[in-house]
Amino acid sequence: MAKSDRSYEIGRHDRDWIESVAEPIHPVLAEIEDAALPERIPILALLASGRRRICEVGTAYGYSTLCMALAQSHGGSIVTIDPDRERTDIARGFWRKAGIAVGRITVVNAKALGAFASNDPVLAGPFDLVFIDALKHEYRAYFDALLPRLVAGALVVADNALWSGRVSGASPVRGDDDGTEELRRFDAFVLRDARFQAALLPVGDGMLVAAYRGG
Ligand SMILES: C[S@@+](CC[C@H](N)C(=O)[O-])C[C@H]1O[C@@H](n2cnc3c(N)ncnc32)[C@H](O)[C@@H]1O
Repeated sequence: MAKSDRSYEIGRHDRDWIESVAEPIHPVLAEIEDAALPERIPILALLASGRRRICEVGTAYGYSTLCMALAQSHGGSIVTIDPDRERTDIARGFWRKAGIAVGRITVVNAKALGAFASNDPVLAGPFDLVFIDALKHEYRAYFDALLPRLVAGALVVADNALWSGRVSGASPVRGDDDGTEELRRFDAFVLRDARFQAALLPVGDGMLVAAYRGG
């Protein structure tokens, strides 16, 4: 007998109900959503809660950075990397508006792999949460660069792990260089890496979450 499919597809009604009972999002996050239309990722706030030193790869307009800054522990800090200065200047305005203390968030305006290789002390870590959200074909290289900078128990979170269905093959790839193949290999590598306890959460565009066992 075929195994019954007990999965349930969450719909608009469920989302509306969750929003009706959950605490309203910070007004500056709502403002960034209006300006840049990123996906809402409340789960990121959950994962950042209590974390002290965070590294983000791919800042853009600072939505996730702000999400994590509002959730992380008192006295925590974030270093976020993005070569696009125009975007990060806009992000800084949002963080200021949200009342984030100057100095809590450090922006590195460079390509992440170059920045990691430069031995910039702000990227030395150790980090207890890293959020990977830049070039899909470079995810594995970001992961390798960040690994020696993690404390035991650190979380590695990677966004777009399902890449709109392209990773599983549910949707067609958009050309040879859309990062799908690299992302697929990255997901499989992390999910099978014995140094981590990992899961690919089917939320948003897929969020890979891996807890570093240390050692
Ligand atoms: C998907 S957006 C990041 C969204 C952001 N994390 C958020 O959730 O609000 C990807 C960002 O990666 C940046 N990016 C592109 N190449 C990069 C690189 N080599 N290193 C770091 N960031 C890069 C882009 O400029 C872009 O702003």
